[in-house]
Amino acid sequence: MRAPGTSTSTGVSPDEAGNEIGAAWASGVPEAAGAGSPVAGEDLLVGHRAPAVRHLLSIADLGRDGILEIMRLSDAFAEVAERPIPKVPALRGRTVATVFMEPSTRTRLSFETAAKRLSADVMTFTASTSAAVKGESLRDTVETIDAMGIDAMVIRHHASGAPLRVTDWVGASVINAGDGTHEHPTQALLDCYTIREALTARRDGAVPADMSGLRVAIVGDIKHSRVARSNVLAFAALGADVVLVAPPTLMPASLEGWPVTATGDLDSTLGGLDVIYLLRIQSERLGEVLLPSLDEYHWRYGLTRARADALKRDALIMHPGPMIRGVEISPEVADMPASLVTRQVRNGVVVRMAVLFHLLGSGVM
Ligand code: NCD
Repeated sequence: MRAPGTSTSTGVSPDEAGNEIGAAWASGVPEAAGAGSPVAGEDLLVGHRAPAVRHLLSIADLGRDGILEIMRLSDAFAEVAERPIPKVPALRGRTVATVFMEPSTRTRLSFETAAKRLSADVMTFTASTSAAVKGESLRDTVETIDAMGIDAMVIRHHASGAPLRVTDWVGASVINAGDGTHEHPTQALLDCYTIREALTARRDGAVPADMSGLRVAIVGDIKHSRVARSNVLAFAALGADVVLVAPPTLMPASLEGWPVTATGDLDSTLGGLDVIYLLRIQSERLGEVLLPSLDEYHWRYGLTRARADALKRDALIMHPGPMIRGVEISPEVADMPASLVTRQVRNGVVVRMAVLFHLLGSGVM
């Protein structure tokens, strides 16, 4: 597993990237295509930089510039999503396969919706109804799917590093939709986009340069969370000040190289936060007893109403889902206006449209 802070192929580490503040979140945002235009419009492609890599395995594959490019493209696809027919022909003739070896509601549906809205054909593989239950290996499964002629494979797997192995076996672009405790890059991208959108609305439409000046806490099961790893890389690359908050048993053994600070004391951090990002306890990955009880966890680390009241008035509350109400967040807080959870899901579709277009788009709309 690559630790956050290290580079993959062409990516830059957040340490390096965080220092090159200057390129703006706002830069190159295309003019929205006219309401009556039949497709997103050529504007979408103005200044579109072809990706340096074919695959998206880690946020480090994108680096700061790649993240900003996805934000820019997402703005254009958000405009498409507002249309009566929210569909463009950008990936007509292309095929996207979703290969999910772990349960998923939002990520798989979100990728499939995104692909369909780009007019791609979609092939769905679900482990429980496939030859995987007969003992077929991952390699044989993905080679079989690839042989049918696909352009992208969106893969979720319980083993960290599985998508990287798959890149050796298939010709398609591979997109990591969550691998074990490693990374979940599109979740981080949609989270960055959601924060950017909330700040833009607050600033009367002025898109902020990046996340510098923002203090973000990621709270909970950091040790087993692929969302935390991708979000640390993404938030730090955009200049945010990231603090990890967890009991010692749910904190990674070493944070060397992570561009973060860490604490076990949630209550003392609340008043200084601009964003609080809650994580689900990854019960399926715990393998040992790391918590006295979920009630105790809620009492020490859950976002209760009293803790929500201790946040700044305009602090943003986020969670990747699925939320376990009454554990990491109280039901009342989950439904507060400051909670962006539904907005995160909604933005997931446009951000994944941007990712698919970025990796597969030929430049012809
Ligand atoms: C996350 C995941 O699968 O890593 N869910 C998601 O994709 N929205 C978070 C989780 O399962 O806790």
